[in-house]
Amino acid sequence: MKIAIMGYGTIGSGVAAVVEKNRDSIAKKAGEPIEVKYVLDLREFPGDPVQEKLVHDVDIIMEDPEVGIVVETMGGVEPACTFVKKALQAGKSVTTSNKALVAKKGTELLALAKENHVSFLFEASVGGGIPIIRPLNQCLTADEIMEITGILNGTTNYILTKMDRDGADLDAVLKRAQEKGYAEKDPTADIEGFDACRKIAILSSLAYGSQVDFEDIYTEGITGLSALDFKYAKELGMAIKLLATSRRAGDSFYAMVAPMMIGEDHPLHGVNGVFNGILVEGNMADKLMFYGRGAGSLPTASAVVADVVEMAKNPGETLLTSWSSEKLPLADKGTWERQFFVRMEGKRAERRILVEEIFGEVSYVEIPGLDEFGFVTPRMTEAEYEAKAAQAGGVIHMIRMAQ
Ligand code: HSE
Repeated sequence: MKIAIMGYGTIGSGVAAVVEKNRDSIAKKAGEPIEVKYVLDLREFPGDPVQEKLVHDVDIIMEDPEVGIVVETMGGVEPACTFVKKALQAGKSVTTSNKALVAKKGTELLALAKENHVSFLFEASVGGGIPIIRPLNQCLTADEIMEITGILNGTTNYILTKMDRDGADLDAVLKRAQEKGYAEKDPTADIEGFDACRKIAILSSLAYGSQVDFEDIYTEGITGLSALDFKYAKELGMAIKLLATSRRAGDSFYAMVAPMMIGEDHPLHGVNGVFNGILVEGNMADKLMFYGRGAGSLPTASAVVADVVEMAKNPGETLLTSWSSEKLPLADKGTWERQFFVRMEGKRAERRILVEEIFGEVSYVEIPGLDEFGFVTPRMTEAEYEAKAAQAGGVIHMIRMAQ
């Protein structure tokens, strides 16, 4: 099987390395040797053995009948989408690590693959090296998925873990993360939650079988968090994690990305640093945890090459996913029930009566020497919380409690 890699960046070069390093075992599992015939990139790589396979014109790949599988590791929606469409129409199966492409165009590309009797797979687009797409697609098909909650972004998890351990503020930790290469020069997509939002949209589309548009998902990043929030979390015996979550509640579906307080007994509590963790709850299998490296060259490439092997084993077939083109409407977040941690201006003794009149039976958490106090509300809907917070006034910051 001859393959082509489009994009020789972190992941594309990892794919070439995995194919080379595990050549023999991959050949056994695929039933035939896998060979990289072309690498598409705008750049030159003098001295790199890939230089001999380098092409700058995508049509060389598309017009070569020997190439049966195309790997897309360019990132971004365009020109990746145009190139992937060309490959599918040319009768080549495609695997991609590109969550922006899958979240935006997944439905269309899956349909195009089916029309052309080829496959479109995307194991590496969520959770890097963690197998999560295939388990949802193949292993959990006897279950109705009730919930998916994940720490799906390594950059922010690294930052939050550092803020927790060092008592530092976001700006200082972000700067260090950028120096170490754990955060991009422009970290917006990570710290504003956009990356996690696309990933939970993909997982939810697979889990619930209908298209979840990432634009419909309420998304809050980590930029509102400060060192003081982590002090309160410690007092509560909790951690703060950026959770991407979706849940089935009867006939309704919710989805959200937001920083949340999670207790020690929560399975995602121990997912620290750059690691990702994904908790899936099925109505039969109950709770399952997937843990591993959500980014990085070789872990992500491992997932890409696993797709290549799967496609090489099933030539001329469309490997089906449960993702239909029907849109899944999400319920209004105002109706989602949970508890809320609230930081409020003033002294607890002075505001206690008002707080309890409005919010009901709360549990307080205080840090000595501050002109503010914290409390955890009883369970209520987001809409109820918002109305009560507006009525009480003086809310400095609210963090949702994980369910
Ligand atoms: N920036 C992403 C992360 C890369 O930190 O998880 C993997 O999608």
